Amino acid sequence: LRLRDLVLPFFGASAATLLYGALVEARRLQVDRHVLPLPSWPKSLSGYKIALLADFHLNRWNRELNAEAVAAALEAEPDAVALAGDFVGYWSLDKIDMLGELFAPLEKLDGKVVAVPGNHDYYGGDASLLKPILNEFGIKLLRNEVVSFDGISWVGIDSETEGRADPYTPMLEQSTRKEPAIVVWHEPDVVERLPRGADLMLSGHSHGGQFTFPWGWTPMHTDLGRRFVRGFYPEAPTPIYVSRGIGTTGPPSRLCCPPEVAILTLTAA
Ligand SMILES: [Fe+2]
Repeated sequence: LRLRDLVLPFFGASAATLLYGALVEARRLQVDRHVLPLPSWPKSLSGYKIALLADFHLNRWNRELNAEAVAAALEAEPDAVALAGDFVGYWSLDKIDMLGELFAPLEKLDGKVVAVPGNHDYYGGDASLLKPILNEFGIKLLRNEVVSFDGISWVGIDSETEGRADPYTPMLEQSTRKEPAIVVWHEPDVVERLPRGADLMLSGHSHGGQFTFPWGWTPMHTDLGRRFVRGFYPEAPTPIYVSRGIGTTGPPSRLCCPPEVAILTLTAA
């Protein structure tokens, strides 16, 4: 057996896997429900339910999948929704209407929706483009800012990858309030430099690695999404939950890493 006899089967199998991942797995939305026990979470807020959506990378080919994710989030009747960035893969004019259409159903939550930009929201445009679109439906775009509702401080931090992140100003502001704090920050690995004091951080960006082989090998990693890749990390400096996201980056395909709507119920540990 010569090496060149293996080349064709290898590339054939890779192409078939990518195609299967694009046509089947990247479109198979999964609703993941988790109970997150948090050490300092108040008993009075035990049972508080958040729907976390991330990495929409909205385009005309995945708009139905994204709409399905928003509908699934609403169906879970969450107390609040967090949108963890990468609304677009790359800005183009048609994205304005598409984003409006996608997020209109979240108006039902009466302003209990927080959002932060991801690195991709600066590609071919600027994250400030998101503000008027999201505002229309009462969604709060937080760029190094804090809002408070339901007795919780919601800290939204801008994209680290794009050099826009200032975790210090909003964390200092929230520390003056006597209420629990949830941080939304697109890139998960920066949890290691988040000032202490928050109860939970919510992220996306890693896409869960997007491709995971059945034996656990994840060949593709994003910068700042290597250490905390998917799911709940209670032992992180601040407990963090990382979403696998909805859309894709690079090849529009997934393997053993389905698009995710996370329904997170917070309890006092
Ligand atoms: Fe990202």
